[in-house]
Amino acid sequence: MAIVSSGSSAPRGSRPEPAPRLVDAAVQEHEQERPLQREDSLRPRKLADYIGQSELKQVLGIAIEATRTREEALDHVLLYGPPGLGKTTMALVLAEELGVRCRITSAPALERPRDIVGLLVNLQPRELLFIDEIHRLTRVAEELLYPAMEDFRLDLTVGKGTTARTRTLPLAPFTLVGATTRAGSLSSPLRDRFGLIQRLEFYGLEDLQAIVQRAAGLLNLELEPEAALEVARRCRGTPRIANRLLRRVRDVAAVGGHSLVGAALVQQALSLHRVDGRGLDASDRRLLDLLHNGYGGGPVGLDTLAAGLGEDPVTLESVVEPFLLQQGFLQRTPRGRVITEAGIAHLREHAA
Ligand code: ADE
Repeated sequence: MAIVSSGSSAPRGSRPEPAPRLVDAAVQEHEQERPLQREDSLRPRKLADYIGQSELKQVLGIAIEATRTREEALDHVLLYGPPGLGKTTMALVLAEELGVRCRITSAPALERPRDIVGLLVNLQPRELLFIDEIHRLTRVAEELLYPAMEDFRLDLTVGKGTTARTRTLPLAPFTLVGATTRAGSLSSPLRDRFGLIQRLEFYGLEDLQAIVQRAAGLLNLELEPEAALEVARRCRGTPRIANRLLRRVRDVAAVGGHSLVGAALVQQALSLHRVDGRGLDASDRRLLDLLHNGYGGGPVGLDTLAAGLGEDPVTLESVVEPFLLQQGFLQRTPRGRVITEAGIAHLREHAA
């Protein structure tokens, strides 16, 4: 790794001195705030408002309280599980509960060493750094993170060839919150540096119904409990999808002049978007259909299936399949993917 510049390092254990020249540019590049996203307005801010994931909340609740008492940075946290279940939301909740700022980035944005250096040297004591898709970090970025996570220091190589030297830069004690949909793709040295490793689960219907009602309140939409349940049934166990569907329902309600939304209106609105009663969309049904009618039900390899669908195998495996597996429509066997009886029955019910 070569980050070329000069400058002296501060003594270990003390607060960082003003960043030496080698990191100046990197620091400035990372000063911009993350733009607000549509999802942000519906996110819970406090642990008490976060619905579901009870084990996760319990574990993190204890860690937060212990950390507050000790006046230390929270241990590094790795959150894994399918997309849309609230990993970013939980990182923001942690920051709110600890009264610190949360810096949000994702591994593909940290391609150059200076990207991660800029973020790390900018952190104030006890702040959170959230890195999404952490399994996609480059080797160099990952190696910079090891001493940063373990000893709050950056080891930078200055110069090249025979004149190369290592400089150590102290960092403020911080918490890394890593998120991934592919925990198995993380290298073990990186995984081992997280003190808390937690899986997010698909949400149950009752929790989803409560999430939908809460979001409806924030969107000024009056929703009957049955209507909230109908959205809950169709959101693939995922709050992000629930909130997206809810916005589509709100559009249909607004255009039709409905002030109170019932279950029938939800069904009508979501059929328009080809979301079926179990939450499968057109691309899920296409996968099941190809497996059943194109490959006699399987087994068929992931790459073959992905090629047939014109999908990227990684997306198929980490984004599309988990819900189909969880619903019992699909099985992964050593010889490939297989459609289940329930999957076939579902296809029959919802023939395109
Ligand atoms: N919105 C999205 N996810 C949520 C959750 N887990 N609890 C409450 N509101 C949410």
